[in-house]
Amino acid sequence: MSKAIQAIRGMNDLLPDAVAHWQRLEAIVRDVLHAYAYREIRLPLLEKSELFARSIGNATDIVEKEMYSFEDRSGENLTLRPEGTAGCVRAGIENGFLHNQIQRLWYAGAMFRHERPQKGRYRQFHQVGVEAYGIESPDLDAELIVMCARLWRALDLDGLTLQLNSLGTLESRAAYRRELVAYLETQRDHLDEDSLRRLDKNPLRILDSKNPAMQEIIAAAPNLHDHLDEASRTHFARLGDYLQQAGIPFIVNPRLVRGLDYYTRTVFEWTTDRLGSQSAVCAGGRYDGLVEQLGGKSTPAAGFAIGMERLVELILQQDAKHSGAHPHAYLALLGDEAEKQGFMLAERLRDAGLHVECNAGGGSLKTQLKRADRSAAAYALLLGEEEARNNAVTVKDLRGHEAQTQIPQNILIDFLKQKTGRGE
Ligand code: HAM
Repeated sequence: MSKAIQAIRGMNDLLPDAVAHWQRLEAIVRDVLHAYAYREIRLPLLEKSELFARSIGNATDIVEKEMYSFEDRSGENLTLRPEGTAGCVRAGIENGFLHNQIQRLWYAGAMFRHERPQKGRYRQFHQVGVEAYGIESPDLDAELIVMCARLWRALDLDGLTLQLNSLGTLESRAAYRRELVAYLETQRDHLDEDSLRRLDKNPLRILDSKNPAMQEIIAAAPNLHDHLDEASRTHFARLGDYLQQAGIPFIVNPRLVRGLDYYTRTVFEWTTDRLGSQSAVCAGGRYDGLVEQLGGKSTPAAGFAIGMERLVELILQQDAKHSGAHPHAYLALLGDEAEKQGFMLAERLRDAGLHVECNAGGGSLKTQLKRADRSAAAYALLLGEEEARNNAVTVKDLRGHEAQTQIPQNILIDFLKQKTGRGE
């Protein structure tokens, strides 16, 4: 038999069960977008490579190393779209629907980036993108954000954090960039390899570094907010007022610089701590300079895109948590005393309304942890000889990345109720 051909790494099949989730979600997203009078636009998957170089920026990770680019049969350099904003602006200029008009648009579809695949990060992924043109004032920025918040409510999704920053105008950012580079030059000997590479081309991205060794240097760097021009400062403050009025909490993160070059003034990200390192579920901002940069007449613009795979994953996690389909905890028991104690501990947890799968029939720690994982429980509770002696239990987070901790058995019910949303 000849060898079966497999899918390309990072490009996933969506099987019928999964599609059912996607369709439910897409319908809710569409309803919310329509409630704000956004209209759908459908754009090509392929664009000229130059479009992305001129918009996202030559020195960004996306353009430098992640694009699927190739020459077609007539020798034209084309790229599978890595995002939707550039194509939307291109279409707007070409079809004359941007200049002197107000447009509220959305699109949905596949995007392509040759990144290292991991949970929440794929090479073909899907975005719902929203773009608004012709409105310069911060009420539009606020509209985009309250629209997201309404969507999270419609999906019954909690635990998302809004991070906000202003990058100022292109001019004020250029002035800041000069000062940042001057400072970073004084630290050159202590910069990591990534930062050295970015120093000439894209120094603002250094602020975004996750390397612990860089944090001290970054903390002492000049602050972007001290360099904002007056108009951007006012714009940002007014956006904050709108959000406060709408009751939407946010965190101002001066290190939020985004991975695409076209942003001016407002940038934002909705993040979660439930998806591991790929924490941004939705991201965007204002890009007042892009239309002109791509050859159109100057037009203010702002938008965002939601990563649909990440949103689906969050909803599935949450559904599992609330539906009772999976146990809240798997109780692993090691040793005679633990088995006796654990049997009754599981009963007490169930009395309190928690769903618990209790290990039966012994087995090594490794075997029991494997069973715990298979049970799809949110937490494993380990009760060994030591824990049994101390009336304690070791709690291991199986789905997130909370540190393992040991807690007394008498606070276990409250702890699990709080963690699994059972007590709400
Ligand atoms: P972005 O931050 O590059 O922005 O992507 C937006 C969202 O798409 C991310 O927050 C994430 O949820 C999802 N995403 C990005 N890359 C991947 C990947 N490899 N796998 C899975 N999900 C991913 C943009 O694309 C801008 N065009 C957003 C925008 C619209 N700004 C203004 N208008």
